[in-house]
Formats: sequence, structure tokens, C-alpha cells
Amino acid sequence: MDGLNRPNNALAAGPIGRAAAWLIGPRGISDPKRLRREVEGKIAVVTGASHGLGAETARLLGAAGATVVLGARSLDQLEEVAAEIKAAGGQAVALRLDLGEPESISEFASEILTRFGHVDYLIHNAGKSLRRSIHLSYDRPKDLTATSSANYLGPMRLTLELLPSMRARRSGHIVNVSTVGVLFPTAPKWGFYLSSKAAFDVWMRAVGMEARPDGVTLTTIYAGLMHTRMSAPSRWMSALPGQTPAEAATGVARALIRKPRFMIPAYGYLTAVLVPILRVPLEVAATALYKRLGDTDAALRAINGKGSGNAA
Ligand SMILES: NC(=O)c1ccc[n+]([C@@H]2O[C@H](COP(=O)([O-])OP(=O)(O)OC[C@H]3O[C@@H](n4cnc5c(N)ncnc54)[C@H](OP(=O)(O)O)[C@@H]3O)[C@@H](O)[C@H]2O)c1
Repeated sequence: MDGLNRPNNALAAGPIGRAAAWLIGPRGISDPKRLRREVEGKIAVVTGASHGLGAETARLLGAAGATVVLGARSLDQLEEVAAEIKAAGGQAVALRLDLGEPESISEFASEILTRFGHVDYLIHNAGKSLRRSIHLSYDRPKDLTATSSANYLGPMRLTLELLPSMRARRSGHIVNVSTVGVLFPTAPKWGFYLSSKAAFDVWMRAVGMEARPDGVTLTTIYAGLMHTRMSAPSRWMSALPGQTPAEAATGVARALIRKPRFMIPAYGYLTAVLVPILRVPLEVAATALYKRLGDTDAALRAINGKGSGNAA
């Protein structure tokens, strides 16, 4: 476990917060028998499986009988998760994947195809969040490259590597873990994160429509708040109802079992309708608010050279 999968705030962590998160989050399926019927003996590739939702998804699928390929940059952490899956009787392989390096992506994909011959599930979960005032990014090209490679260009490249074999077998399911934030009013400071998530969402949906007649299906999960290391730097988020990574992983399970085209928290429907209608007043309000909220300690530490830049 990450140790970050519980919010600090008593309300969010208490029964009211838990009930709210259950009501509003994309619902999951945790029935182990149904999941096992779907995934047993199948090859599931999970990106970003070293932490948070990816690690929990890998554990869930491994426990249900899938052979899980875990990809991320932190190989030690990946190996720990893979070892846990194997200790529990499952099958798992940890492979280094850096979505910012085209070579790493090619090696990852060809290693999978060499070892297993095919992929049944490709779960695009890896992601890099960033909430930082734009003036703090003027001299940080890394903010642009880290977000666009983890959220957009890297997953696009990985899809290009693995989709041909999925289409050739006329089988496979892709899950894109996007964010409900792309359906919210555009928010100051979130430009790099939201634009890269939105770009991959649109690209993946277009490709998904082309692949569907060839037997390859796509679910886009517009995930709501999850209490992970990604959201941890924004302390106000810990006060809001959100899912634990384990709860959110049951949403990925639902995506694999039912294969809906998309999954969305209940409030996502409302924002999707209201945001275009109320665009001007929402932008005026967001502009008035954004200076008051300030930048997170993580965002400020990173520009002073003391942090990782993992600033949500
Ligand atoms: N947390 C939320 O509230 C929230 C809300 C909506 C959507 N989401 C989405 O949910 C997904 C999972 O997020 P999380 O909350 O579980 O975050 P997390 O705990 O920070 O995990 C992110 C994962 O992505 C991997 N990753 C980041 N950059 C990478 C790169 N360049 N190459 C390969 N792997 C990379 C990380 O592994 P390494 O660092 O080891 O590479 C890590 O395993 C993300 O796509 C995120 O955008 C999260």
C-alpha cells in the first residue's frame, strides 16, 4: 500500500465521505468470481503500476488470475508489487517503462510481445499531474515534457506499438484512465495536466472507433478524486470525498467486465452539460479565485530545486 490511500480529513475519511465517494465515483465491481471469469489466464498490461491506482489494479487483476505486466519507471517499487502478487499465488512481471523515452516504450512493448505473444488488456493508467502557476513554469521546460509525455505522447506511442497485434487477433480491451477534470470548467494552473489528459482522451476515442470493428474495444474512465500521492500535495483535496486506490481499482474491473464506452462520476454529466453554457461566468469566477488559492508547497519546492515536481 502507498500509505496515501486514505484522506487526512476526518469528514472525507468518515462514513459520510465514504458514502459520498461511493455515490459519486464511477462505480466498481469487486465480485472476485465475476472478475476471475473475465480475466483468468489473460494478459493485462498496467502502466503506472508502481503506485496508487495502477498498483491496486495490478493486485486486483493478479488475485483474479490474470498475468499482469506492470510498467513504470520505479523498477524496485514495481518489483515489490509483482512479488506481492506472486506471493499470493498470481502471475506478474515487472518491466521498466518510461513514457518519456520512445526507446523505453518500444522495448517494453516488444518484451511483452516476445514473452506472451499478445495483450488482452491495455490499461493506460500512468499519469503525471501538475498544478502550478504558469509564471513558475517559464524556465521549466520539464513541466511541459513530463506532463505531455506521461499523459499524451507516451501512451499514444505505446498504443501504436500494441494495437496492431490486438487488431490482428480481433480481440482486446483498452482502458484509458482519464480525469473528470477534462469535463470541468477549465481551471487556471492546471493547463499542462488537463490539456495533455484531454488530448489523449480525444486521440484514444478516435482510434477506439477505428479499432472497434476489428474487435478491440475501449473504455474511458473519467476518474474523480482519488486519495493517492498524486492528489496528496493539494491539502484541500484531502478534505473532499474521494476514492481510495483500491476502490477505484474496482472501477477498472468494471471496465474490463462490462466494457462500457465510458465511465463517469454522477456529477460529471452535470458539468458536461453546464460548462459550455456557463463558460463566461465560470471563467470570470475561476480567474478571481485562482490567486487566492496559491501554489502548493510541492510546486514551490520544485522550482527551488528541492522537490520532485510531483505537484498536484
Ligand atoms: N489521484 C487523482 O485524484 C486522480 C483523479 C483523476 C484521474 N487520475 C488519473 O489516475 C491515474 C493514476 O493516478 P494515481 O492517482 O494513482 O497517481 P500516482 O499514485 O502518482 O501514480 C502515477 C503512476 O504513473 C507512473 N508514471 C508517471 N510518469 C511516468 C512515466 N513518464 N513513465 C511511466 N510511468 C509513469 C508512476 O510511476 P513512476 O513514478 O514509478 O514512473 C506511478 O506509478 C493517472 O492517469 C491520473 O491522471 C488521478
